[in-house]
Formats: sequence, structure tokens, C-alpha cells
Amino acid sequence: MSTFTIDTATSRATPTPVPGKRMTVPAIRSRKTSGKTDQPIVMLTAYTMRMAQLLDPHCEMLLIGDSLGQVIYGLPSTVPVTMEMMCAHGTAVVRGSWHALVAVDMPFGSYEASPEQAFNSAARIMKETGCAAVKLEGGEAMAPTIDFLTHRGIPVIGHVGLTPQAVNVLGGYGARGKSADEAQKIFADAAAVAQAGAFCIVVEGVMEEVAERVTERIPVPIIGIGASPKCDGQVLVTEDMLGLFERTPRFVKRYADLASEIGEAVGKYAEEVRSRAFPTEEQTYRPKA
Ligand code: KIV
Repeated sequence: MSTFTIDTATSRATPTPVPGKRMTVPAIRSRKTSGKTDQPIVMLTAYTMRMAQLLDPHCEMLLIGDSLGQVIYGLPSTVPVTMEMMCAHGTAVVRGSWHALVAVDMPFGSYEASPEQAFNSAARIMKETGCAAVKLEGGEAMAPTIDFLTHRGIPVIGHVGLTPQAVNVLGGYGARGKSADEAQKIFADAAAVAQAGAFCIVVEGVMEEVAERVTERIPVPIIGIGASPKCDGQVLVTEDMLGLFERTPRFVKRYADLASEIGEAVGKYAEEVRSRAFPTEEQTYRPKA
């Protein structure tokens, strides 16, 4: 896994990663052979260098999700997210990782108009960030674009089911695939995206049965979020699983309660600043005796 040591001692440390062997696109793709994945693929979102350093040893893939619109920038949805945001955070995550394959979401409006527009945007993302792949939302309608990109050196992760960039069309973030027609459409979307050359596909917010059918029948790895434990891998927004938000959506499991821990730590700090209990002798510079 890691072939070097990085300095993670303080916030001012300079990480100086020596080139290591990162997960590659073919390595992820070949996790699923003959329709089966022995070792599920672990994927999480990351937006910053330090978070990437902490997640990297545990994950096969790190995703700079456009969920950073809400999580980092406080935007109302992923729709206003820009190329500049994705490139800046993608660069930071690549700098903070050495093992995981890093993929960057293509923001809304950067790829839908034409395959050429998508190529220009994806090439910019890959050149500026050093990431190995891009992810884009959409099924059958996006298949020609995915085909265009993958034949021109751009590895693509598909994203079907609940596609948050389409929130204004869908009318919300509810689970998809409840009716037979919708379930069939999600399957057709995943099949088209795989056929077009996506090396794996995120399937988000769908009825379990739909996720299982897609996982069983589509040859490329299916990464679930709000999908099924039978998927070939799982992805979550890291801030959700670490408990940084108050509400836990149904598809999220909380593995920590960082919001409470941060509240307690900051409360204590504020109290000690106000009572002049911080800093103490230990944290102040004095002439050496
Ligand atoms: O934007 C994002 O974080 C995502 C994941 C939830 C898959 O697309």
C-alpha cells in the first residue's frame, strides 16, 4: 500500500509524497470478473488535503463529489457548483493521497451540451488536478458522451438512479425505482453507460431490488449509495458518516459523532480563552534559562 512516510504531525507540516503505486482504472474495473466482486470497493468523498490523507489508506477510490457545493460552500444544491471549485478541491485531494484512485465530479453545465464540451471540461479537470477519472451524471442520454470521452483517454465513472444535479427535474431527493417503469429506466441507463465504456457506475438512492438487478446483470463494478449491500462497492459522503450533520439520512450509517466532539472541544477552548486559562506556560515562548 503506502511506500513512504508523510509528515502529518501538524497543520503546518509539508507533505512530501514519494510516488507510490496508486489504484488504477483497470485495477478497479477488474475487481468484478464474470459478474462477481470478491472484495467490495471502498469509496468515500474527500474535498481537502488533510481529509484525503486520513481516508486514503482505507479506500480504493476517493471522490471529489460536487456535494462539496452543500458540504463546503453552503450552496442550496449541486447545481451552482463551478469548474473552479472542482479543480481547486481535486488538486488538494490528489496532493493528500498516494494510494487511492482519485475521481472528480464534472459539475452541472460542464458536459451536457455536447461530447466536445465534455471533453474540454474533463481534460481541464484532469490536467489541473492530476486525477485519474471523472464522474458524470446521466444514463442513456449521456452514453454518446461517455463513449466519446473513453475513446479519447478519459476514464469515466457513470452515475444513475437519483442524480442530484437533476433535482429541478426530479423535484427532490427521494428514492428512485419505485414503479416498474422507473426501475426499468434505471436498468437501461446503467446498461447504456456500461456499454459506452464507463469503468464503474455509482447507483444512488434506488430501491434495493433495482440495485441488486443492476449489480447482477451489469458487467462493470456498481458502487452503491442508498442502494444495496450486494453492490460491488459502497460510497458515502464522508461528513455524513462521520456525524458532522445533525440528521442522518436513511442510507447513511454514522461511524462517529464528530459534530458533538467539535462542539465540546470548541466550547472548552472558548471557555479557557475567556478565563485566560489558555495559553499556559506550556504554550508560550520564553527566553531559555
Ligand atoms: O457528489 C457526491 O458526493 C456524489 C456521491 C454521493 C456519489 O456524487
